[in-house]
Amino acid sequence: MNICCIGAGYVGGPTMAMIAKKCPNISVNVVDINEERIKAWQSDDLPIYEPGLYDVVKESLNRNLFFSTDIDSAIDNADIIFVSVNTPTKTFGEGAGRASDLQYWELCARRIKEVSKSDKIIVEKSTLPVRTAEAMERVLHSDKSDIHFEVLSNPEFLAEGSAVEDLENPDRVLIGGHDTDSGQRAVNVIVDIYANWIPKNKILTSNVWSSELSKLTANAFLAQRVSSINTISALCEATEADVTEVSHAIGTDSRIGSKFLKASIGFGGSCFKKDILNLVYLCETYGLNEVANYWQQVVEINDYQQVRFVRQIIQRMFNTIAGKKILILGFAFKANTGDTRESPAIKICRELYAEKAEIVISDPKALDNAKKDLIDLENIKYEQDPYKASKEADAIAVLTDWNEYKDLDYKKIYDGMRKPAFIFDGRNFLDHNFLFNIGYEVYSIGKGHQSHLD
Ligand code: NAD
Ligand code: UDX
Repeated sequence: MNICCIGAGYVGGPTMAMIAKKCPNISVNVVDINEERIKAWQSDDLPIYEPGLYDVVKESLNRNLFFSTDIDSAIDNADIIFVSVNTPTKTFGEGAGRASDLQYWELCARRIKEVSKSDKIIVEKSTLPVRTAEAMERVLHSDKSDIHFEVLSNPEFLAEGSAVEDLENPDRVLIGGHDTDSGQRAVNVIVDIYANWIPKNKILTSNVWSSELSKLTANAFLAQRVSSINTISALCEATEADVTEVSHAIGTDSRIGSKFLKASIGFGGSCFKKDILNLVYLCETYGLNEVANYWQQVVEINDYQQVRFVRQIIQRMFNTIAGKKILILGFAFKANTGDTRESPAIKICRELYAEKAEIVISDPKALDNAKKDLIDLENIKYEQDPYKASKEADAIAVLTDWNEYKDLDYKKIYDGMRKPAFIFDGRNFLDHNFLFNIGYEVYSIGKGHQSHLD
């Protein structure tokens, strides 16, 4: 069997590397228009940082896992084509700022139609608006040739930073197909691939539209939990309740569950915001304005939480941060990734910059991306070493929950800072009493502040 995957990004690369590892008899060809990315997949310096990924790729690379820019040959030779290209939020025209930009995806459909000489199963791996498969089928079958393309939906649920673990042992795999003979045959082919390592009871099948919509819904629900606890964090600060205690107390209710209840500076990443906005747009398209408004609030609360955090920094630092040096500890949208797409750090740095703060950014894996994100801001400093970066700083803003930030020598850092030395924990994961006892002015989300100055 021969698989082609179009799109060698955060999803295409790791998912295909896992299939190649678990199915040595299948030849897996991952293709992309981005030459630099393809070269990096073939090198020792993978294009994305993901714990454990290097070993998974190396195990199959050039055995049954291949990366190439020869898209046409890979399409032509494939029995199954996974389409895993980016589907960002549209920035222009109808639906700008909300709808999915489907241009990359449609280009793939057209290329597949152009190049194919035999029947193929086409699998939507990208996250797409519900009923996209219908449009894909129209494009693929538009020239009335005898070739049959069976379109399935198999959304990806991996999270960055834990992609390898998520792929190795997913909560579930979802495969949506049409309720026709050829649809069900194609579904079974994909089920059999995953069944090489995933228990059958975790492989769910559904109709195509349910599968497409389940992906958007899963992300909307996860993001909604983060926004919900973040609204409560604001109330905690006003009432001296502690959001970590509240979150623990509600999370022990098995009906609520404990995951995705960590208050923070808000969710980032390439998926949550984009997918909720897409859901909002879809609802509006179907005239479901109340439903659209409900989900829109999840995004608005997320923006509010970031603005609130910056406001706290300014207020605590005597209502001016002009000329004050602020160390940004962590720029990635979450720990264990170098990805900065939609990272709250971007908006927070821009707001601090607008207030004329002097900004130094430190991150173990995301500095290259941070530089690109803030390319238009002058005089931002980037320093990998948190100790060097903290010299003469007035404040530290912890924006990513990198584990190594727990173990820093905060006494040593404090000694090198200007006084009063402030620390703003945007992830609520440091030991705040310990920091306060060192001498820091401590602010953390949903717990208020601890000050030596009051
Ligand atoms: P990405 O931007 O990292 O990768 C997409 C790749 O597709 C890029 O390398 C790009 O060059 C390539 N590409 C675009 N058009 C192409 C074309 N016509 N031919 C060949 N290659 C082309 O994106 P990603 O993060 O991997 O996301 C891909 C899809 O998966 C999106 O729909 C996203 O919503 C979804 N998704 C992402 C995640 C995640 O954690 N990043 C998780 C689940 C689902
Ligand atoms: C998400 C989904 O989890 C995954 O299933 C989907 O396939 C892609 O989108 P990802 O964006 O990679 O994955 O990371 P995730 O762990 O979901 O975190 C998203 C954001 O929410 C991060 O910025 C994270 O810091 C934040 N978050 C998460 C919180 O602020 N609090 C939480 O309790 C959990």
